[in-house]
Amino acid sequence: MSENISDTPGASSFCEIKPERVDIGPFTMVIFGGTGDLSRRKLLPTLYHLCHDQNLPDEYSIIAFASSERSDEEYRDLVKHSVEEFSEGPIHDACWENFSRHLFYMSGNFKDAESYKRLSSRIEEVAKPASGGKREVIYYLAVPPQFLPDIFERLSFCRLCSGKFDARLIIEKPFGRDRSSASALNSLIAKSFEERQIYRIDHYLGKETVQNILFFRFANSIFEPLWNRRYIDHVQITVAESLGIEYRARFYEQAGVVRDIVQNHMMQLLALIAMEPPIGFEADHIRNEKVKVYRTLRIMDSEYIDKHTVRGQYGAGNINGTDVVSYCDEKDTAPDSNTPTFFAGKFYIDNWRWADVPFYLRTGKRMKKRITEISIHFKQPPLRLFRSICDIREPNLLILGVQPHEEIVLHIGVKHPGIGNHLYAVELGFNYEKDLQGDVHFPLPYERLLLDCMKGDQTLFARQDETEAMWAVVDPIIERWKNTPCPEFPNYAAGSWGPDDANRLIGADGRQWRIF
Ligand code: BG6
Repeated sequence: MSENISDTPGASSFCEIKPERVDIGPFTMVIFGGTGDLSRRKLLPTLYHLCHDQNLPDEYSIIAFASSERSDEEYRDLVKHSVEEFSEGPIHDACWENFSRHLFYMSGNFKDAESYKRLSSRIEEVAKPASGGKREVIYYLAVPPQFLPDIFERLSFCRLCSGKFDARLIIEKPFGRDRSSASALNSLIAKSFEERQIYRIDHYLGKETVQNILFFRFANSIFEPLWNRRYIDHVQITVAESLGIEYRARFYEQAGVVRDIVQNHMMQLLALIAMEPPIGFEADHIRNEKVKVYRTLRIMDSEYIDKHTVRGQYGAGNINGTDVVSYCDEKDTAPDSNTPTFFAGKFYIDNWRWADVPFYLRTGKRMKKRITEISIHFKQPPLRLFRSICDIREPNLLILGVQPHEEIVLHIGVKHPGIGNHLYAVELGFNYEKDLQGDVHFPLPYERLLLDCMKGDQTLFARQDETEAMWAVVDPIIERWKNTPCPEFPNYAAGSWGPDDANRLIGADGRQWRIF
């Protein structure tokens, strides 16, 4: 027996993969909106974790730039509370001591050039230059989109991104409200920055299992030959959330489900499933292939949208034993709001690989469970030689589970023991948690993405043409929905799998949602 293979039945054997150490030089991160929700919930706890896991260099500084008056000490208290509240593990005193020394605060006005001059001096004061003599600065724009133009212009005007500073910008979603505003924003950025400096973040791309889609597809030669219209009947992508809109009504009322999830997270998942093999793993090779998918997605006309998309808004209901209110009764939503919180739709990709293969996408808030999953439904054999006893579980199905179960499961047909010729679907599976037995640290999406930006790797960030192409796919849906009366909202109860129309949408093609 080969020495790589364990002789203990059932035991897995691993080749030893040494944890990758990232070599990052001194940097300063300036967080615009460093006291806001996103900073408190995600960014600051993530930066603390990176420090805890010794992923940050010795020399770095984090400067929060926000409007309220605060001292450095007061800001450190805010960060400590955020880490305590929003991190998984407890805070370690020694690590906190170390981390907090790198935190600074500056109050300023995003529109006021004077504030940027002070920011420039502050960066020089706290940041050590890198080996080339310049200071590496990452500007994290964790602010609502309306502030972006002013910030870009001032950063450029006050020379905070050139000369003595080498700058990168991380821009949060939503990137624009539609294609034309995204394109205007891109043109504005392009006046002062090069594309290599821009990191448009989509945290879905930082999820380990999302990145694994490419590894799974292109490292396993057994699936790629089947990955096309000849063998695949259809694909389903579900991003179901049990959460409601929480504290974000003001944002959500303006956005709705298509801008919030479909235009970015779902388009990214779809592209990773549908793209052609890239010629290399460098950022642009992958992004080139994704853009081709968005450009070949069939643009929907009004008639198609009316027939093949479904919108919904949740009513009151019960999730896991807890009663929850309807969307319109959430804090700060309009009592007669028409904002959709659910989307289902059928997409086609008009290229040689995917012609006529439907991609059914479904997402919603306050659904029965939190689950993100992609299922690839292979065609059933042309002749039904066997009698199936299980109508619910079909064989020839591949499931890529993104959350909460991070797994890959193949449903295959086997003979059910007994005299009859009954076919039975069983699962062959890989589950990250069970199979790697807790040995492996899962970086949180923001950990991975922040480290990539610090390293200068843009692979997991959206390029200018990518964001515009994604908008081009969803714009007609948003527009059509805006101009036609919505169904009577609410049309699904919190804790359900969405409106009945979503079942009719897929049912009309003789199929059903895998999760229902
Ligand atoms: C965000 C959306 O981008 O993604 C939220 O703005 C949504 O509305 C969240 O809740 C979902 O992310 P995850 O990682 O919990 O699936």
